[in-house]
Amino acid sequence: MITTVDDIALIPGLLDRPLRVLLLGGTGEAAALAELLHAAGHDVTTSLAGRTREPRPLAGKMRTGGFGGADGLAGHLAASGTEVLIDVTHPFATRMSANARHAVAISNTRLIVFERPRWAKCDRDQWIEVASLEQACAALPDGARVLLALGSQHIAPFAARSSIHFVIRMVDLPSERLPFTDFTLVTSRPGDVASETQLLENHRISHIVCRNSGGSAAYAKIEAARNLSLPVVMITR
Ligand SMILES: NC(=O)c1ccc[n+]([C@@H]2O[C@H](COP(=O)([O-])OP(=O)(O)OC[C@H]3O[C@@H](n4cnc5c(N)ncnc54)[C@H](OP(=O)(O)O)[C@@H]3O)[C@@H](O)[C@H]2O)c1
Repeated sequence: MITTVDDIALIPGLLDRPLRVLLLGGTGEAAALAELLHAAGHDVTTSLAGRTREPRPLAGKMRTGGFGGADGLAGHLAASGTEVLIDVTHPFATRMSANARHAVAISNTRLIVFERPRWAKCDRDQWIEVASLEQACAALPDGARVLLALGSQHIAPFAARSSIHFVIRMVDLPSERLPFTDFTLVTSRPGDVASETQLLENHRISHIVCRNSGGSAAYAKIEAARNLSLPVVMITR
């Protein structure tokens, strides 16, 4: 297991000769690892689930879409001659990670898992830590104005809270009508602390709901909430 992209260089024997590597991606760390391994001369392919319409360019090759479960992935590993599978998926992409573990057992491929450390609560953070989307939904008071910083496939449980105004942030416009009664849709990627602060202020946000993803890419909203003394309903891993 590795916890930073640079740790890859510390794995004994891994980078000694050019390897055919499949990265299970969809994260900033996967993009960084693809760049590092491609620059070092490895044959790198990054696999994306296909959730984002226009993913950022990646070093090396890219493939898109599910494999058809662990058996499908095992078949892909064998057919493509993959020597090393690196799971650099998001920490909440648990099904893909479980499939990766099963697939390498079947196909006898080496697996390296990137585990992104979770965010630690600071003194000034007002976190309400919960274990599920349903608990997050129940933790919100009537009349709240809530930034839902969750993937589009995770927002449905909140639609039942008609007394809450939701600001829903997505990278892409949704393909279907959202089932919410009172909401604002914002299509953007997470920004820096200044832009996250502006978003929270412009929409008079009273609460944020997010998951403890860890990493730097989505951390600015946590800092902005801290600076504005806003509560964050934090879904733990
Ligand atoms: N969960 C998040 O909040 C989040 C945030 C940012 C980015 N992402 C990225 O978005 C992707 C999907 O996340 P999720 O939470 O829906 O995952 P998930 O629930 O663990 O995976 C569901 C299914 O999607 C397919 N899949 C997932 N990741 C894939 C990949 N990298 N390449 C090819 N197929 C993939 C697999 O289908 P088959 O069984 O058919 O192979 C998997 O069984 C992941 O790659 C993850 O890194 C997720």
